[in-house]
Amino acid sequence: MAGGIFKMTTFGPNAFVVVEGKQAKSFYIIRQGKVRLTNEIPIPGEEPSKILGPGDFFGVVSCMSGHPHIETAQTLTQVPVIEVGRDQFGVLIQKNAPIAMKIIRYFSLRLRVIDKAITQLSFHHTVEEDPRLMFDVGEYYFNKQEYRQAAYAFQKFLQYFSQDPRAAQAKVRLQGMNAPFQHPGIKRQGLNVSFNDGETIFIEHEPGSELYIIQSGRVKITKVVDQNEVLLAVLNPGDIFGEMALLENKPRSASAVAHGPVTALAINKANFETMVQAQPQLAVKLITILSERIWTAYRQLANLLIEDPVGRMYDMLLTLIQKKRIPIQPKASYTFDIGPQELMNMIGISPEKSESYIIALLEDKNFKLDEGKIICLDTAELEKQVHFYRKKAALDRKRDMARQNM
Ligand code: CMP
Repeated sequence: MAGGIFKMTTFGPNAFVVVEGKQAKSFYIIRQGKVRLTNEIPIPGEEPSKILGPGDFFGVVSCMSGHPHIETAQTLTQVPVIEVGRDQFGVLIQKNAPIAMKIIRYFSLRLRVIDKAITQLSFHHTVEEDPRLMFDVGEYYFNKQEYRQAAYAFQKFLQYFSQDPRAAQAKVRLQGMNAPFQHPGIKRQGLNVSFNDGETIFIEHEPGSELYIIQSGRVKITKVVDQNEVLLAVLNPGDIFGEMALLENKPRSASAVAHGPVTALAINKANFETMVQAQPQLAVKLITILSERIWTAYRQLANLLIEDPVGRMYDMLLTLIQKKRIPIQPKASYTFDIGPQELMNMIGISPEKSESYIIALLEDKNFKLDEGKIICLDTAELEKQVHFYRKKAALDRKRDMARQNM
């Protein structure tokens, strides 16, 4: 694969090739030597630093999502690398499909680790990977009188766990809803599948073996957390979902429901790799989607780890600007599409406690309100404020760790 259109670069030892918070247009594949990868924030379930070697990659999330880096990479030896620009990715995959598979698998795993940490921190809730939980999802929708979702969950529960002690209860529920014990199956013609408005495509915790590429219509991705349904995303034609279960042999991490009539391509493991090879743009699309999701999830986790609500407030505002890919510049102002109360919701401050923080924000000369929307007058100044709070949060974490180790 060496040579050709890709740039070959060699870094000496101790070079910072990518730096967390900085922007990039390329990512790197290591040809030889060792690179240390670190994150500013500790991700529960991940090692604080990783040593990468030949064939490993770094900087992909930032390059493909167009957001600042979420990791720092430092060379430990002399390291020759292949530098790949965003628009060269398709060509790279054509020449080397296994690298695409490696990135997709690793990203899918990483997203699950970060998502788990977020759920634990925000809901003090451990994430279980047990398909028997389909029964509980069924109960949740049954109690909410959403019978189509409930019936699907109980039918799938019975399909996999007909001997479970709760199978009888699932049958009672289905009878009560006038629904058959068995799910009728997906409407299929070759790779093409279709769903009616409101039809469940799959349910959270269901074992899964296919991913879907939406051809027409929209799909809602939801999850039940602490007896609340959380809307994770509404997906559009061209979007891909269901890749996590396919790649990791784990139950579905969320439910997918048709929002209007939907047609999609269903891809299983056997044809996934062939398809990636034949259509590199599919892999590029999937890696771009995963990069965006990882970036968002990482920033959300970082925000949760800032204890001071004022710091969390600034950090969330900066993330909102970066999410829109607005360049941060001195004296550049930015009008958010949210007001102070929505900001408080986003950082988990209850309405009773929010007043003093809203006052603090509006007393800051860098902010004002216009028609209920927050305006930042100098985005570079906001970035400085955020750095201060991030550093402070990192120091607090170090101090807590030292105390725990005493
Ligand atoms: P999978 O776990 O197989 O099934 C649920 C799917 O929802 C998952 O794969 C992803 O494709 C998608 N998904 C999970 N989390 C999110 C999220 N935060 N935003 C958008 N899509 C998601």
